[in-house]
Parts: sequence; structure tokens; C-alpha cells
Amino acid sequence: KNIAIFASGSGSNFQALLRAIEKQRLQANPVLLVCDSPHALVIDRAKAAGVDCFVFSPKAYSSKAMFEKDILLQLQEKHVDWIVLAGYMRLIGETLLTPFAGRILNIHPSLLPSFPGKDAIGQALQAGVNISGVTIHYVDHGMDTGPIIAQQAVVVRSDDTKASLARRIQKVEHALYPRIIQELFHETTALSV
Ligand code: GRF
Repeated sequence: KNIAIFASGSGSNFQALLRAIEKQRLQANPVLLVCDSPHALVIDRAKAAGVDCFVFSPKAYSSKAMFEKDILLQLQEKHVDWIVLAGYMRLIGETLLTPFAGRILNIHPSLLPSFPGKDAIGQALQAGVNISGVTIHYVDHGMDTGPIIAQQAVVVRSDDTKASLARRIQKVEHALYPRIIQELFHETTALSV
């Protein structure tokens, strides 16, 4: 399957996906990085790995529909089968949701439906929960609301800071995302953890 990875930031999940592909734990072709932030670190990672990039600046467009049309052209040109969101900090609009219905995935650093949106890790600490985690889900119109595919819990320690909890959550993300995508593409096992 040809995948396009969408990311806005550091791209540690992007890197984890590429590593899994390299090690043949994930059978997929990463044909494109889509990035909405021209100085994001993930662009350097893509270039170093030889993955084509479509980098755009949303401000240069009059609407989401306009930039998503440009993204769609790129996806069609590269024969993309699935969209994999990895820290893409925007809602996906109709222009992409319709042609890719049921073929857009996201990873979120909490046990949804708790703590959707930005700063899920800060929200979890603020709420004082003992358990948070990671969710992989299909993308729909809402903010982190689509059908859940897999979840894994991460224990919150009483002395956790945002940085320490983020480190443990990311470690889980980096293992879980490639594994679940592989299962999804090849329908090997039940999609639960
Ligand atoms: C991850 O925590 C992911 O769950 C969330 O955004 C973060 C991206 O981190 N959607 P990175 O850019 O992959 O390091």
C-alpha cells in the first residue's frame, strides 16, 4: 500500500514508521510527506530518507478546501492508498475525507474519548488521572472523534512532568502505530492490544 504521512512537527512518529518499513515490520511504501509547516523538523527527516515532500503554507491559501485540493492532486499523482496522520495539527476537511473515506488514520496521545485536541498530555496531568495512553483511530470530521482501532494504556506516575510522561507515551506510540497499521493492511490479527 502507498501511504502519505501528514505531519506538522518533529516527526518522531514519522521516523518510527520509516524505521518499521525499513526493517520490514511494516509493509508499506511511504510515497509522500505532507507538511503544513515549512520549518518543521519532519521535513529534514523526510529529505534524509529520500521521501518526497509536499510542504505548503496554509496562509498562502484562501481556505482549507483550496489547500486540500492541492494536497489531493499530490496524493493522486503518487497513487496514495492511505493517509497516515502523525502529528498533523489540523482537522481534515471534506476535500480529503470524501475520496479517502475509511482510509485515514490518526494517533493521539491519550485514551480517547478523554483529552481530545491539543496538549492531551498536559490535560491528563491536570486532571490527575492515574492512567493515560495512546489511541489509534479512523479520522472523521471531528477533533479526535473517529472510530477507535486500538488503544494502549500508559501509567501516569505521581512525579511525572509533561516531558517525562510524553517520553513514555511516545515510546508506546512508536511501537504501536507501525504494528497496528501492518495488522490493518494485512488483517492478520484482531485489532486489539
Ligand atoms: C504525537 O504525540 C501524536 O500522538 C500527536 O502528535 C504527536 C506528534 O509527535 N498526534 P511527533 O511529531 O511524531 O514527534
